[in-house]
Amino acid sequence: MKRRDALRSLLGFAAASPLYAVDDDVNTPVNIHEFEAAAKRKMHKLAYDFIAGGVEDELTLRANRAAYERVVMVPRFMRDVSNVSTAVELLGMKLDSPIIIAPTGGKNLVMPRADEVVAQAALSSKTLICSATGVQKILDDGKPLLWWSNTIGLADKKATQGYARRVEDGGGKGIVVTVDNAYQSNRDRNNRNKFDYGYMTSGVPKPGEEQAPRSPARAAAWLPHTPGMTWETVDWLKSGATVPVILKGILSPEDAAMAVQRGADAIVVSNHGGRQLDGAIATLDALPDVVDAVGGKIPVLMDGGLRRGTDILKALAFGAKAVLVGRAPLWGLGAFGQPGVERVLWMLTAELRLAMGLAGQTTVAGIPRKLAKRV
Ligand SMILES: Cc1cc2nc3c(=O)[nH]c(=O)nc-3n(C[C@H](O)[C@H](O)[C@H](O)COP(=O)(O)O)c2cc1C
Repeated sequence: MKRRDALRSLLGFAAASPLYAVDDDVNTPVNIHEFEAAAKRKMHKLAYDFIAGGVEDELTLRANRAAYERVVMVPRFMRDVSNVSTAVELLGMKLDSPIIIAPTGGKNLVMPRADEVVAQAALSSKTLICSATGVQKILDDGKPLLWWSNTIGLADKKATQGYARRVEDGGGKGIVVTVDNAYQSNRDRNNRNKFDYGYMTSGVPKPGEEQAPRSPARAAAWLPHTPGMTWETVDWLKSGATVPVILKGILSPEDAAMAVQRGADAIVVSNHGGRQLDGAIATLDALPDVVDAVGGKIPVLMDGGLRRGTDILKALAFGAKAVLVGRAPLWGLGAFGQPGVERVLWMLTAELRLAMGLAGQTTVAGIPRKLAKRV
């Protein structure tokens, strides 16, 4: 080999090596998968595994993504698609995009005060955020943050109604009750990594730093969260709250019909991003039957595995009025902080808009069911 060729091959090897300085710019990732790769490079393994992982064999985690591959679209052409709008009206709000930030506990694993950073990104990109924490300062400053609170349920009627009042006084536009969190689930990655659920608030310990164990992950542990919660919680909320009550985690048509009957204002088809019951149905698979059961009486939202505008378009075609994204903004956060979250939200909406144009659709409300079908 000539010296020049040897040098060239050495340079090529170095450039491909992870040790070589990675092109570290918020505009470098060309899609959400590359944001994940960038976040993975920068994050502690415990934190990355906590966020990326699912429960047990991760069947549902994979099923969520695989479901999009089994659905194809049948686009329409020769329609004027010069103007495409991603705007939606949802529970009294006008949103520029049907993409909502899903509630994700443990953001501090990525960086300190991460909930506030993500809320700032939501504010600057005019995105509705669903979060249990991190929004108060922005709301106190009188900023126009679109915020839904999130709870896994409260002990009794008094506590529930008190909570509803605090959310409303704080400027919340809705209360999201997560219904699929009866127990701490059995997450192999966390169990194997000797993860401590206390890190979710304190962050992963720095090298040499000692932290007393608070809630160490253990295989098949029995850790109740809200095992006693029933439909009564919805009654309590509906009798006290003036803002919409949204149930997150519905997967069956029966529960969807019950949610309508008990007065829920919207539901989210969700399996917690494959993090609760392993083997639970993929959300895109569950969506059409749930939409049919609801029969247009309340909006049906969905989340799970959304990484592309085309994924979102399929969900909208199957009847979702809006979607939530959980991991995608966290990959933006882990890779580039607040600008990363903003870029991810922009990219998903931009991809959706383009996909709508290519599919012959100019409005979200006009997207027909028959645009997508299972193969
Ligand atoms: C790190 C992490 C933490 C989460 N914490 C919560 C939570 O506290 N409450 C909740 O209802 N859902 C929680 N979820 C589920 C998300 O709200 C959402 O349903 C899910 O992430 C959607 O799937 P995706 O991550 O593939 O977009 C969490 C998800 C992740 C990845």
